[in-house]
Amino acid sequence: MRNFSEDNITAAVIGRLAGCRDERVREISEALVRHLHAFVKEIEPTEDEWAAAIRFLTHTGQMCSGTRQEFILLSDTLGVSMLVDAINHRHPGDATQSTVLGPFYVEEAAALPLGASIADGMEGEPLLVEGTVRDLHGEPITGASVETWHADSHGFYDVQKASGRTELHMRARFRTDPGGAFWYRSIVPAAYPIPDDGPVGRMLDAQGRHPYRPAHVHFRVSAPGFRTLVTHVFVSGDAYLDSDVVFGVKDALITTLLPLAPGLSPGGHRVDVPGSLLTYDFVLPPQT
Ligand code: BEZ
Ligand code: FE
Repeated sequence: MRNFSEDNITAAVIGRLAGCRDERVREISEALVRHLHAFVKEIEPTEDEWAAAIRFLTHTGQMCSGTRQEFILLSDTLGVSMLVDAINHRHPGDATQSTVLGPFYVEEAAALPLGASIADGMEGEPLLVEGTVRDLHGEPITGASVETWHADSHGFYDVQKASGRTELHMRARFRTDPGGAFWYRSIVPAAYPIPDDGPVGRMLDAQGRHPYRPAHVHFRVSAPGFRTLVTHVFVSGDAYLDSDVVFGVKDALITTLLPLAPGLSPGGHRVDVPGSLLTYDFVLPPQT
């Protein structure tokens, strides 16, 4: 077949997929061609615009390194990461809702004992984090892994600092006690801009959008026999809760920080200096 036009080229490209050996690859390729052609027909790009689009994607790839994933940022800021997350976590009602992993997760964070501080030597308002991990029936999950990480009081993650991964701060892994409880000390995190010195930052600027995420603490909670939960807990009152640049906020993940005076916390833990308390109880659905 020859002489392709605006009217028949989509069907012609799809026709070339007839020999595809893998059914899923065929299904995905066909949808990609259909939607991509429809997009181009809708926007009718000039040749300069199409060249600019190719340059943008080229720069996005060139920006990627071992510590920077610009394509994931692109997916995050276009709402695709949260769409994929929603499709893959259609859980029963009471399970804790998930949200994006983000680029600052580090697998090899230190295992610390319950009650330890993950922010030793860092300046900021003291924070005590208390919570539990339970199943859908409310039964505590003992020995669940609770990985946590968050930005400092200036909105920076440890891995964004020049010293890199040799000095990990504000991240650790804890194990829940026999009552399913975990607790640790830190500092109150701040809102922060996602890395915006690359093509994604320029895209946001061109779209008239800010690059900020509201203050939050990340969690990755896992236990044998249960689905791993990747989520954040957001701090109520933050100015960016309704305009998170990666669309990650859900009402059920927002909590209010309570003032904490020296003495015993609601969870029965020693408090030496005034600060804030963040409480969150996680519910994991079974692995199916
Ligand atoms: C984060 O919360 O760490 C994050 C998520 C998506 C993009 C950038 C940062
Ligand atoms: Fe974050």
